[in-house]
Amino acid sequence: MKAFSVRPAQHTYAVMELPDPGLPGPTQVRFRVLEVGICGTDREICGFHYGFPPEGAEELVIGHECLGQVDAVGEQVEHLNPGDLVVPVVRLPCSDAGCLPCVEEEQDFCNTGNFLERGIKGAHGFMTEYFIDEASRLHPVPPHLRKVAVLTEPLSIAEKALLQIQEVQERLPWPPPKELNAVVLGAGPIGLLGCMAFQLRGYQTTVYSLEPEDHPKAELVRDLGATYVCARNHDLEALDRMVQPMDVVYEAAGAPRLAFQLLKYLDHNGVFVFTGVPGEKPASELDMAHIMRNMVLKNQVVLGTVNAGRKAYANALEDLERIEERWPGILDRLFTAHIPLSEAEHYLVGESRGIKNVVDFTQVLS
Ligand code: BGC
Repeated sequence: MKAFSVRPAQHTYAVMELPDPGLPGPTQVRFRVLEVGICGTDREICGFHYGFPPEGAEELVIGHECLGQVDAVGEQVEHLNPGDLVVPVVRLPCSDAGCLPCVEEEQDFCNTGNFLERGIKGAHGFMTEYFIDEASRLHPVPPHLRKVAVLTEPLSIAEKALLQIQEVQERLPWPPPKELNAVVLGAGPIGLLGCMAFQLRGYQTTVYSLEPEDHPKAELVRDLGATYVCARNHDLEALDRMVQPMDVVYEAAGAPRLAFQLLKYLDHNGVFVFTGVPGEKPASELDMAHIMRNMVLKNQVVLGTVNAGRKAYANALEDLERIEERWPGILDRLFTAHIPLSEAEHYLVGESRGIKNVVDFTQVLS
């Protein structure tokens, strides 16, 4: 079977042949890969800035945003049958018996850093035709979400952020006001899916990004009932005047300078969530005293969040359904290309284009 793999040490990538995966073990499931979404992390791996092959291997099969269809199940598997749609999780627990999150299969909070991530760190990913995984690591997908379920993994990132915000704000001695303001930094897939999740929960959401006001992404934001503010036309002070009070900032741009500058405008009892992973950048000046003064005097919380746990995946699947109901067809507008594996390279390297590009394994493989 074919797979897209990267050899980080040689600085090469290619569609390669892999042996057939064989039959699943008693607790395992074999699934046919239907779709794999391409994200910034995949592009970083193909640019050789990140990504680690499994121990002893030279190549890493990439791909972590996956939708599959079950094709064979082990004899002990009860909740999945051939034909079922599934979304696999990305992160695998570390092997340290003292790492409670991993022991409890909540490896998105791994304490040791020795977790593996499919298609990213130490484990092959899903950009291949068939895959065998533990049944317990597969989320069943209702058939009517077939067209959009490849967005489950990227949406799960926003869902985890929202769960974190909720937990953090339970610190407050009164229930939060009904209408909270959220600023989403960045209009990539994580930003736009985040905007949808915030809107669903009743936030007044403002997306702040570089695209011009007449860009399809800006239109999509407005069609969600949210506000779009172009960062080229409005500085952060202008943004601050438009969003009062700034209760939550959800950073999904991976732009550290802008993010820390925005921190200055976060309001009393506010939460600032980082989800972007920036590459190494030269050190830059920051008004640290101002930031620190605000954090203390305004009871602010700044937190980072990565990957997602069971609850976040479940919420993502529920929210895909709610988004489809509330804004029919809007998720389709995130898809800018469905391509066969042979064309994946054009979307994995070079200039980034579109919003969510998807490798479609139901198209002819060549
Ligand atoms: C993935 C996460 C992963 C993170 C860091 C993101 O692109 O969506 O699942 O934890 O990269 O490797």
